[in-house]
Amino acid sequence: MGKALDGVRVLDFTHVQSGPTCTQLLAWFGADVIKVERPGEGDITRSQLRDIPNVDSLYFTMLNSNKRSITLDTKNPQGKKVLEELIKICDVMVENFAPGVLDRMGLTWERIQEINPRIIVASVKGFGPGPFEDCKVYENVAQCTGGSASTTGFRDGLPMVTGSQIGDSGTGLHLALGIVTALYQRTLTGKGQRVLAAMQDAVLNLCRVKLRDQQRLQRGPLQEYSQFGEGIPFGDAVPRAGNDSGGGQPGRILKCKGWETDPNAYIYFITQAQVWDKVCTVIGKEEWINDPEFAKPAQRLPKLNFIFATIEEWTMTKTKFEVMDILNKYDIPCGPILSMKEIAEDQSLYATGTLVEVDHPTRGAYITVGNPIKLSDNDVQVERSPLLGEHTDEILASVLGFDEEQITEIKASGATGEPVRQAAE
Ligand code: COA
Repeated sequence: MGKALDGVRVLDFTHVQSGPTCTQLLAWFGADVIKVERPGEGDITRSQLRDIPNVDSLYFTMLNSNKRSITLDTKNPQGKKVLEELIKICDVMVENFAPGVLDRMGLTWERIQEINPRIIVASVKGFGPGPFEDCKVYENVAQCTGGSASTTGFRDGLPMVTGSQIGDSGTGLHLALGIVTALYQRTLTGKGQRVLAAMQDAVLNLCRVKLRDQQRLQRGPLQEYSQFGEGIPFGDAVPRAGNDSGGGQPGRILKCKGWETDPNAYIYFITQAQVWDKVCTVIGKEEWINDPEFAKPAQRLPKLNFIFATIEEWTMTKTKFEVMDILNKYDIPCGPILSMKEIAEDQSLYATGTLVEVDHPTRGAYITVGNPIKLSDNDVQVERSPLLGEHTDEILASVLGFDEEQITEIKASGATGEPVRQAAE
């Protein structure tokens, strides 16, 4: 079995989360990903949210698997020269610096094309061209400006950001798709191109159902929102809808046995129209099946709070897993609220490679999320993240072909700094 991106070499000039998510995926598809890091400190996440002193953080290790690390001061003339040599031999360069940083390094698109007209230059930025294009952006800024925060949370509460890192990791995913698409187009044109994924755009793309509802709202109230059943008038923008389902099937999070002490003893329950009869049977409300007040979805919409309260009386008598077992027998979709602890202990996720335990020379074993996209012909094992500058010598010699004298000269200039080795003596 081969590797999907065998032969593709990526200059990974990314940091923090959005860019590294993208390049980690490319590495898991078999690309040779060379991460260029500033000497001394490297990617800032190496030292952020550290749980063990002087050891690369989980923030870093979980976003940089299967990569090689070279330290390079790209503001040093020798360092810049090495960077340009890397641009010459790479198929893709990925970066997520603040707007203008690459230009200040002298790496305009025109200059990069001069060096290598086949290279694909892929960037994450906070915003696309327009009034905010020069702004620096982090995760929650994107969630707020992409429409997620205004539509998440409860109607009578604050706008809310989600735990899913849709701004950072979500944009990294979008960028990865752009890169492989550009690589495919290059096989036809022979030319590289620029790929841009703006975080605001990626979040909005993931929130498109709320833009759908914004337009529906102009034609009348959103009847599947619980607010409708509660008789509360709508304003001119899509409201926050708590745990109402974003699709046409009403759903809510309901208490299960143990909810008084366990913050995750809940289940997402969906009253899908096709299985309404089965729902009535399971909860012991067979009389609703033919009751003209409940039989049709439109009749149920104004009574959803009452209906879900009745279903909850049933779910509260069982654990979330018992509820799931019973509902699955009837093909009624549902979702137990799984804690991160439950997920980290779920052996079935290790069996598929979605969760992986890897060993690290200074931190020891840690759990990471493996490639969530499974290809049947892509044999790449998840490997630990590199130490800072771990592959500097290897890349200078065997990737760039510098001889000993040249390497000595580069190092003497301070371009690679002193690789910080964190061997576990
Ligand atoms: N050698 C020398 N200098 C280096 C270097 C290296 N190997 N790598 C980076 N630098 C320098 C850059 O040249 C830049 O210097 P300059 O400002 O003097 O030109 C400097 O490091 C800072 O880079 P920057 O990207 O601006 O970092 P920041 O900490 O100021 O901002 C972000 C961080 C994330 C806000 C910003 O990068 C950003 O908005 N990125 C785009 C959106 C994004 O991806 N956000 C989410 C991150 S998860």
